[in-house]
Amino acid sequence: MTTPTPGLLPLRPELAGEEPYGAPQLDVPVLLNVNENPYPPSDDVVATIAADVAAAARGLNRYPDREALALRGDLAAYLGQESGVALAPEQIWAANGSNEVMLHLLQAFGGPGRTVVSFAPTYSMYPEYARDTHTRWVAGRRSEDFTIDAGHAVDVIEREQPSVILLTSPNNPTGTALPLPVVEAVLAAAARVTVPDAPDGAGAVVVVDEAYAEFRRAGTPSALELLADHPNLAVTRTMSKAFGAAGLRLGYLAASARLVDALRVVRLPYHLSAITQAAARAALKHTGALRTQVASLRDERDALVDWLRAQGLDVAETDANFVLFGRFDDRRALWQGLLDRGVLIREVGPPGWLRVSVGTPEETARFKEALTETLKELR
Ligand SMILES: Cc1ncc(COP(=O)(O)O)c(C=O)c1O
Repeated sequence: MTTPTPGLLPLRPELAGEEPYGAPQLDVPVLLNVNENPYPPSDDVVATIAADVAAAARGLNRYPDREALALRGDLAAYLGQESGVALAPEQIWAANGSNEVMLHLLQAFGGPGRTVVSFAPTYSMYPEYARDTHTRWVAGRRSEDFTIDAGHAVDVIEREQPSVILLTSPNNPTGTALPLPVVEAVLAAAARVTVPDAPDGAGAVVVVDEAYAEFRRAGTPSALELLADHPNLAVTRTMSKAFGAAGLRLGYLAASARLVDALRVVRLPYHLSAITQAAARAALKHTGALRTQVASLRDERDALVDWLRAQGLDVAETDANFVLFGRFDDRRALWQGLLDRGVLIREVGPPGWLRVSVGTPEETARFKEALTETLKELR
């Protein structure tokens, strides 16, 4: 018998000393650190959300539609307009942010004795989903220009035999979009994987995280185009970025109906509140205005890339609403110099690089001014 020690908890050993994930939430005039849309919802959008949420509130004594089928239908229609790919509501899954969608994917297809493979540098939450679902995390590497070499990807998949392969396009924090032939090479290797405790021939699931897809440049395709031929492919999206609804917490994916059915098994009952479903459906009624706004953010991004290059800085090619730029011997000093001038960006990614989100023209002007002053000061 051991003597009980007050204050001790039976914490899982892999969680000991771990900090909760999250960028600093500081009260600063110019927030360019978490890739949000800088524009708040318009009065029209706010009015529709308020009316539809009020209607939903009248039914709050009842649990919500746990299948969220009307919302999934609206999301299918939106993806059809956005990418030209026809999808049925049963091919869409939705949850509280694409964070939760990704967790569902690993709960269903990862787990003890299984492996998830991704390619770094990439989104820093992925290893945490792996840890929380007892899935082994393996990171292959991205090339110097942050693309993924198809040969390397296939080697890693053949060596590790993962049950889930996670590709990010456009990638965070680098902004890099993947050409479809790379995704196709990964899909072919995934189909040959032998997954522990899975039926013979099941192959691995390939997830393409397209959180930033709406910001991709003309001619850059979406992996949605590959869905019809690949039942083990899932393409995740979010309303947190282009939609300007990070506070809503609504992420979703498109996949085969069979893959979606597997996610329905692991979700909590009624995981999407009636309020969330109503607000998301209301926001989806306004996609026309959204398209104009996204186009102007893309232009703003391209102009920012040109300006940073004109300052003699290295800038990663970007199809997202942020820019990775460098390289700095002491990136912390630069980050701090900007913060001292009221501009918060993100110290993230490979050593020497910093990431800035695309803001309004006024915010970008403040960023440029603060960067010019700080670089002068540090030189
Ligand atoms: C690549 C990537 N995927 C997913 C997410 C999570 O987004 P959500 O707000 O939908 O949970 C982010 C957020 O920054 C991201 O950068």
